[in-house]
Amino acid sequence: MSLCPSASKRQSVLFLLAGFDTTASTLTTAVFQLARNPDIQERLYEEVVSKLEQFVCYRKLIMYIASIYSVQNHLFTKDGISHEMISDLPFMDQVINEVTRLCPSLPR
Ligand code: HEM
Repeated sequence: MSLCPSASKRQSVLFLLAGFDTTASTLTTAVFQLARNPDIQERLYEEVVSKLEQFVCYRKLIMYIASIYSVQNHLFTKDGISHEMISDLPFMDQVINEVTRLCPSLPR
């Protein structure tokens, strides 16, 4: 399927608009709800910290191998966050699901 330039421009604008406000209001609500529920906030914090610790050794190894072979490391950002890491946060998923259930940023 090919897109003419104006159609791909419209799709890009839609993509940007659809993704921006929905994400922003979900995150705002999440922060608000976490402030109201400090026990949940603490549990979420523990999950994130333990995930960071779990990946620290793996990250060091990847950085080391990348430096030996003088290749760029695409697996981790500078602050050590990787796609694999954020894909495995079950409690975070539950929190976001609950936030979108309680305060959906868009009506169906
Ligand atoms: C919490 C975050 C989000 C919520 C609650 C949300 C919600 C929705 C909903 C309810 C629809 C309509 C689906 C339907 O037609 O049945 C939709 C469509 C869409 N969303 Fe999201 N969305 C979110 C994040 C994003 C992000 C991050 C992007 C892009 C980066 C995005 C891009 C789109 C696009 C392009 C459509 C239109 C799809 C189509 O035309 O078929 N959304 N979204």
